[in-house]
Amino acid sequence: MLKGTVFFTINLLIVLILLSAIHLPFIAQKNHFNFYKKQSQNHAPVVKILSPKNNSVYRWNSQVSYEISVSDKEDGESKYQEINPKEVFLEIKYVNDTSKALDLIKKNDQKDPPGLAAIKTSNCMNCHAFKSKLIGPSFYEITRRYEQVANSVDTLTDHILNGSKGRWGNVQMPSNDKLNASEAKEVIEWIFKNTRDSTVNYLAGTEGSFRLNASANSLKNIILIASYTDHGIKDQPHQNMKGGDLIIIHGK
Ligand code: HEC
Repeated sequence: MLKGTVFFTINLLIVLILLSAIHLPFIAQKNHFNFYKKQSQNHAPVVKILSPKNNSVYRWNSQVSYEISVSDKEDGESKYQEINPKEVFLEIKYVNDTSKALDLIKKNDQKDPPGLAAIKTSNCMNCHAFKSKLIGPSFYEITRRYEQVANSVDTLTDHILNGSKGRWGNVQMPSNDKLNASEAKEVIEWIFKNTRDSTVNYLAGTEGSFRLNASANSLKNIILIASYTDHGIKDQPHQNMKGGDLIIIHGK
């Protein structure tokens, strides 16, 4: 009787071991697959313009304060200072016909032109602003000084990569190893082409303020587009994703 029970138990154990041996690779594979999938999926950042509110009306020349929040599964939350504020952009666009402008914006929604994308993901905005002087000259002033100068694209490409001193004052621009020569060239070409336009401005930062530009006041609607491009995931930083928010305010 006892022998029979032992024999039965041993058989049962063998059967169980065999069964689990068959199943284990599947279980392992499944888990591995899930694990792999989790790791390789970057999530798009969620960007919100907290203020101003959509459709609010401001007087020309008044200061408009703005605040943007960013939440990204991989990079973190702007409210916990986990997002570099200088990588959060606000585009301010004065337009007449909002529906036409919105169509165009939707078309370019997924990706910035390469020159602008490089500005956004390098550290340029720590020292430069598009229309006003910061530590370095504004991109607008750089355009005014060099646009008509022969070979200036090549000269400035070289200065972006290797640094610059004594051309605008006593502060030095350090060399930049984040960009290669063709990216730096795209940056300068984008700056020349886009910073003269008085109906568009870009600000870097999760909060700040801007003045409603009276010289653009034949254009009554102002589209505000906030955006943030994330850093992808650890092993695949080039899977960057962009998130954005858009509102319209009006000048009076
Ligand atoms: C640490 C601050 C700092 C950073 C970061 C920085 N710059 Fe500058 N930049 C300066 C300063 C200061 C000058 C003025 C240097 C001078 O007087 O020659 C300058 C000058 C320039 C000039 C004009 C150079 C010339 O020959 O007149 C360009 C173009 C420029 N920066 C583009 C960029 C771009 C694009 C980036 C990002 C990839 C960038 N800078 C990052 C501080 C910075």
